[in-house]
This record gives sequence, C-alpha cells and structure tokens, in this order.
Amino acid sequence: MDKIIVLDFGSQYNQLIARRVRELGVYSEILPFNTNIEILKDDSIKGIILSGGPNSVYDEFAPHIDKELYNIGVPILGICYGMQITQYLFGGKVSPSDKREYGKSELTIIKDSVITKGLPQTSTVWMSHGDHVDKLSDDFSLLATTPSCMAIAKHKELDIYNLQFHPEVTHTEFGETIISNFVTEICMAIPSWNLDDYIEQSIQSIKDKVKEEQVILALSGGVDSSVAATLIHKAIGDQLLCIFVDTGLLRKNEGDKVMELYAKNYNINVIRVNAKDQFLGALKGVKEPEQKRKIIGNEFIKVFESFKEEHKDAKFLAQGTIYPDVIESVSINGPSETIKSHHNVGGLPNDLDFELLEPLRELFKDEVRKVGLALGIPKHMIMRHPFPGPGLGIRILGEIEQSKVSILQEADDIFIEELMNENLYDSVSQAFVVLLPVKSVGVMGDKRTYEYVCAVRSANTLDFMTATFSRLPFEFLDKVASRIINEVRGINRVVYDITSKPPGTIEWE
Ligand code: XMP
Repeated sequence: MDKIIVLDFGSQYNQLIARRVRELGVYSEILPFNTNIEILKDDSIKGIILSGGPNSVYDEFAPHIDKELYNIGVPILGICYGMQITQYLFGGKVSPSDKREYGKSELTIIKDSVITKGLPQTSTVWMSHGDHVDKLSDDFSLLATTPSCMAIAKHKELDIYNLQFHPEVTHTEFGETIISNFVTEICMAIPSWNLDDYIEQSIQSIKDKVKEEQVILALSGGVDSSVAATLIHKAIGDQLLCIFVDTGLLRKNEGDKVMELYAKNYNINVIRVNAKDQFLGALKGVKEPEQKRKIIGNEFIKVFESFKEEHKDAKFLAQGTIYPDVIESVSINGPSETIKSHHNVGGLPNDLDFELLEPLRELFKDEVRKVGLALGIPKHMIMRHPFPGPGLGIRILGEIEQSKVSILQEADDIFIEELMNENLYDSVSQAFVVLLPVKSVGVMGDKRTYEYVCAVRSANTLDFMTATFSRLPFEFLDKVASRIINEVRGINRVVYDITSKPPGTIEWE
C-alpha cells in the first residue's frame, strides 16, 4: 500500500497532516524526525512531509536532519519549520522574528506550479510561526507570497516544496487542494486506504493471531474499548471475555447502559464487577487530586489482577490503543512535564504476562468512530464525549463520598440531557458538571438554603491539548441551571466555567 510519511518536528498539527492525507484515501504514518534514512527508502513510501515545530533552526537542541534525506528520490513537502530547516540546509537565510505571526494571511500566487493547481490567484492561509525565511536558497524559486513572508517555494530541479503556512488546518482555504496536489499529483500515491477493507483485514488478522486462545479486554464503555471489543468479537466470538469495572464513579446508569448494549444486544461476554465499595473505601478521606488518581488507578489494577487470576488460561489482552496514543510515545518533545497523571481505566501495567492485541493501533479517533458505526454500534455511543478513566472521582473536588457522587450524577445527567434536547451535544467536544466542595447560601420558596455549588463545564477542542470554553447560549444555560437547582437536592447554585485551556485544563482536577 502506498504511504506518505509525516516526519514529526513537534508541531501540534502533525496528526492533522496525516489525517488529511488519509482523508484522500492514502495511508499516512507519523515518524520521528530522526528516523533512520534507510527506513525511509522503503518502496511503499511515495512522499515525505516535514511537519512544523516549535523550535528555531538555530536553537541549541533544534531537531535537525541529514541533508541526504532530500536525495532519497521521493517528493518532499516542508511545512513551516519543515520549510525553515529545508532552506537552512540549502543555504537560505532564516531569521528570527521579533513577534510571532499567528492567524490568517493572504496568499498571492506569483508563479504557477502543480502544488498550487486549482488555487485562485489569492486566497486565505493560516500562519503560525516565529522565524521566517529571509532569503531563499539559490536552488529554490519562489511561487507565492503573503504580505509578510515567502509563502511557497520549490526546488528548481527536485520535487521539494516548501510552505510557510499550514495547509492542514481548515482556516487555510485551499489547504486540502494543496495537500491533494502534493499527494496525488506530485507523489502519485495510489489511494488504497479504506476502512471497509481495514475491517475485513483486521478481522482476519485477529483470527490468525488468536487461533483457539482466549482474549480478555477491559471494557470502559468509551468509544475505543467498545469498538475494539466489537471488532474482536466479530472475529473470534465467545473467545473474547470482557471485564467491565463499575467503580461507582461512573455517569448515571452508565453500568446498566454498557451491559444492556454489549452483553444483551451484542451477546458479547461481559462480566460486570461491582467494585464501588472497594473504590470509595480506598478513597475515603483523600482530598488531593494526584493521590485520588493514583488510588483509582491502583484499585483498578487490583480488580483486574484478581479477574486475571480467575481466568488464567487467557493468553491475550486486548486494548483499545489508537494511533495518537502510539505517536505520542515517539514525539520529539519527550515526556513533557506531568500536569496530571492521566490513566485510562484499562491503563494496565506492562508486566501482566499477556500478549497484546491492539486492533485499532493504526487508526485516528475519527477513523475508530467510522469503524464503530460500520460495525453497527449506535451513533449515540460512538459520538459520545470522552470520559476520563478516574471518572467522577476527579469531578468531585476534594473528598469523595457516596452522597456527593449521587448529587453529581443527577446534575450531570440533566446537563447532558439538555444538550441533547437542544441539539447542542455534537457541537461541543466535552461537557460535564463538577461538584465543588463549597456551600453557598440561597433562597428557595421562602426558605434559606445552604447547599453545594456546582460548575457546568463545556469545552470545544480539536485535540484536547488546547481548548476554549463553549459559547453556549445564555437561555440554554439558564434552563440547565434552573433544572439542576430545582431537581437536584443538594445543589443551590450553578456557575459556568469560562476558562480556556491553557491556562485551565478541561477537567478540574
Ligand atoms: P485535561 O483535564 O488534562 O484533559 O485538559 C484533557 C482530556 O483528557 C481527559 N482526561 C483523562 N482521560 N484518564 C483519561 O482516560 C485520565 O486520567 C484523564 N484525565 C483527563 C479529559 O477528560 C479530557 O478529555
């Protein structure tokens, strides 16, 4: 299968580049910038895209590449930092800017070329860069400009293209056309990536790998583990055994819904472990967020290990690992500072003595969703917002008690129900309610009340790394607040969280 490789120089957009290529039906993979050139000489690789990145080419630890890369005989497209490193290596001059250019700019084509085929003379592009190219290498000619910089360049003889802007983001009006020109016209990659074939092949390879053995999978009810379970079940039926851990920190009726769908409707073997008392017991008196996360993670592992003891003959552990999880582990940024110790319920230690089965390893989230829909999982399950492994444990600030869990479940359920009723659910990326450990005074009827405050949180984001708060209509928020206060005993005040990420995070703990 023909492939396009994206070499990762640390841009937050590099996954988007690979997704855009896959949307054209051409398989794309992200590899670290310092991947051995011999690996890149594979016949299936039809082109290489050098991604953007946060560095200046002059930084002491800036990611550099061997100029030999440009001679391996496939077309190369350098985007942003990818342009700067190319120009630097070919003798152009890259200059630091005193200020970062961030936002829309107008592109003007000055010389026609395949890369700009189908573009009008002027169009909008999205810029996000500090340094810029001051003087182009003598080996290159300029094809387009913006008012502030050289925007597109091409090597005079070789198929090496440079873009200062980001074609992969939707703000670049003809970004898709540019990427398509590169992939199909310049690299001449044959589109052969499609999800129906992927499902067929994946089912076959699961059968071949598992043979007669048993597989166990920790089902969380989230999209990834659900799609993985359904796919594996299609391949090997009852050889798959799922464990669903009810931590007592799930959304309202979540446990019943998961069992109803997967065990009852799809006949998947799911064992529900009701571990509420165990989790709440271990969390008793604990207030500190990181400690709560660690306790929840550890208790989960304990439950899983005793399950494993009871099913000793299982040889495989299936996980809903998806492509972004795989790429993050090779990113040039290395392990960034731990802001929160994320874990998935299902985030199991490595030494469990299983062979791993990860049928979604190559897929982006939107592709996982498409596979899920093709396998017949209902749309409302597939399009659900993400839910963190530690669950309501990190949405009840401070100490967790059963009574608080019940209050939060009710309030959260109202918010989600209203988003659905008003057709707003799909327009936000993640929405939930947070219960605060403070009480405030209110008045209901003629009575003074003194009850908890909750915060309604809704964020819009592409990648969950940065996010803005959702601009939900006031009338809508008004309705949600009234319903929560009227229907949930224990809450008498609702606030709306208007913090973006950064500086906030999406979850409160
Ligand atoms: P933050 O709060 O870091 O969250 O802005 C970004 C995204 O990650 C989810 N999240 C988690 N998911 N285990 C998970 O599986 C975790 O420990 C965890 N903590 C945060 C969060 O819900 C949001 O989607």
